[in-house]
Order: sequence, then structure tokens, then C-alpha cells
Amino acid sequence: MRDGRVATSSFRVRLQSEQTMTTASLESRIEESFAAGADTVSDVDALSAFLELRYALEAGKLRAAEPDAAAPTGWRVNAWVKRGILLGFRIGALTEMSGGALSFIDKSTYPARIFTTEDGVRIVPGGSSVRSGAYVARGVVMMPPAYINVGAYVDEGTMVDSHALVGSCAQVGRRVHLSAGAQIGGVLEPVNASPVIIEDDVLVGGNTGVYEGTIVRRGAVLAAGTILTRGTPVYDLVNAATLKATPETPLIIPERAVVVPGSRTVPAGYGRQMNLSVYTPVIVKYRDEKTDLSTTLEELLR
Ligand SMILES: CC(C)(COP(=O)(O)OP(=O)(O)OC[C@H]1O[C@@H](n2cnc3c(N)ncnc32)[C@H](O)[C@@H]1OP(=O)(O)O)[C@@H](O)C(=O)NCCC(=O)NCCS
Repeated sequence: MRDGRVATSSFRVRLQSEQTMTTASLESRIEESFAAGADTVSDVDALSAFLELRYALEAGKLRAAEPDAAAPTGWRVNAWVKRGILLGFRIGALTEMSGGALSFIDKSTYPARIFTTEDGVRIVPGGSSVRSGAYVARGVVMMPPAYINVGAYVDEGTMVDSHALVGSCAQVGRRVHLSAGAQIGGVLEPVNASPVIIEDDVLVGGNTGVYEGTIVRRGAVLAAGTILTRGTPVYDLVNAATLKATPETPLIIPERAVVVPGSRTVPAGYGRQMNLSVYTPVIVKYRDEKTDLSTTLEELLR
């Protein structure tokens, strides 16, 4: 035990006997510990509440954000869960987490998850890591190197290809393909900020970047190289519309939209004088049979 912080291992037995604890009471314990600030650093109750949250996240029983038909975007952010994740960083001490010839140092509260064949997840050797507090469903395949951060939720049958990142609290649906180099941004703070959400059956092409709470609705296709942020307008050529985030709503890519990287001319001033263009994503079509053919992926790899 270093710098006064508490060790995590002795609490497992106690935690198992507390599994009947309701979500509501866990929420209030997390909120209480979070509000206590630096006093929680060596507080056993704070650690106990955090570990319960972490196990619930890993089991997919609690999520940083979840579908909610009553919410304007269809997704509700659980800010208290994110506060609990931040609490884990506060109370964790730097610890050696070495394996084989490699050495790692990280917060004691967030060791790499240990998987067994029972979990039904295939992790090809070579530098991939899933942080504690991330949920990874059965049937997920991770190609090395890939990283899934705390609070992320990756659902059944999804492929996380080489050099792909699933950032903290990002929510990734079923049968999603995160192609090589795809970066799904994470967001822990501000705690009420919606994380990036990739719904079921989305293809996220190679070297794409989806950041700042963007929601990609089910079945959409992001062509290789597409970058989406809160400040990126998306031009829908099919419906002659421009999609933008608002102060209340993130950028939302509609169901089955096919988005490709494009450019648009700078309309005025020095940019126009110099004939410059800026990058802009464009919806060229909505998914059709040809798209399905283009996105048929190597099922044999599964
Ligand atoms: C988007 C994608 C799936 C093609 O979908 P599709 O439905 O077959 O698209 P189409 O070929 O019908 O093209 C539709 C239009 O978009 C354009 N387009 C298609 N892909 C494009 C791309 N990547 N960039 C820019 N424009 C593109 C086409 O030129 C066409 O325009 P046009 O109608 O003016 O000729 C494919 O381009 C893609 O990016 N696949 C992902 C590849 C990848 O990342 N693999 C990862 C392996 S790890």
C-alpha cells in the first residue's frame, strides 16, 4: 500500500455478500464518496463502493450511458456512473502490473482484466488490453493492438480491429465492425456529457475518428477516413439537409446513412482567394444492396 491508499484485494469476499445492494444505494454511496473529495483517498467505504461499480460495469449490469426511449437522443447518460469511474482514479495508487518481460505501472484500481475461455471473448496475443470496468460481450473479437478503456460497453459479435481504440464510456452495439485504426473517442468529463455511441450493425471504416459524443445510428456506414466531431457539419446529399450538433444534442448520423469524407469550398475571404477547401463528411446515399456487399466482412475470422 502506497501513499495511504487502500489495497483492493481484501474486499472481494465482502463484496460478494453485498451483491443484493440496490443500484440506488450504490449510486448514493458513490455520490457521497465523490463529493467527499480528497478525504476518500484512503477510505475503505469509497473503495468498496467503487469496486462494486467496477464489477457491475464489467458484467454489463450498469452502463455509463444506456438506451432510453424517453430521452431526446434515445440515450441517457448516467452521470453518477461516470463520477464513480473518476472516483476510481482518485483512490487508486500507482502499482506495478508487470507480466513476462514487460513492465507496466497504473492505478491499483484499474488493473488489466483477466479473461478465461469461459468469457467467450477472443483476444489475439500482441499488445491488446481491456481496462477494468469495461464490458466486453461474448463473441467480441479484438485484433492486436487494440484498447478498450474503462466504462466502455462493447456488445455481442463486434469486431475491434488492429489499432482501434474504444475510449472511456463509449457505447458500441452488436455486430459493429470497428476497422483498423478506428478511434472511438472517450469522455469522462464533464460527467453529464454523452459518450460516443455506435449503435448495432454499424461499419466504422479504417482510420475513422468518432469523437465528442457523436451518435451513429444503427446500420450506418462510415467510409474509411471519415472524422466526426461536435463541430463537424455533415451534408446529406439525399435529403438536401445539413446535420449539426446543437448545444443540447450531439451530432447524430441517421440510420443506414453512408458517410464518406468529402470537401467543400471555402466560400469567402482569403480562403476563397486561395481556392481552399475544408474537409467535410458527406452522406452520399443510404445503405443499399451494394453497400451490404461492400461491407461483407471476413466472417471466417469470427
Ligand atoms: C463506404 C463504402 C462501404 C462503399 O459503400 P458503397 O455503398 O459500396 O458505395 P458506392 O461504391 O455505391 O459509392 C457511392 C458514392 O460514394 C462515393 N464513395 C464511396 N466510397 C467512398 C469513399 N471511401 N470516399 C469518398 N467517396 C466514396 C462513390 O464514389 C460514389 O459516388 P458517385 O455516386 O458520385 O459515384 C467503402 O467506400 C468503404 O469505405 N468501406 C470501408 C473500407 C474499410 O475501411 N475497410 C476496413 C477493413 S479493416
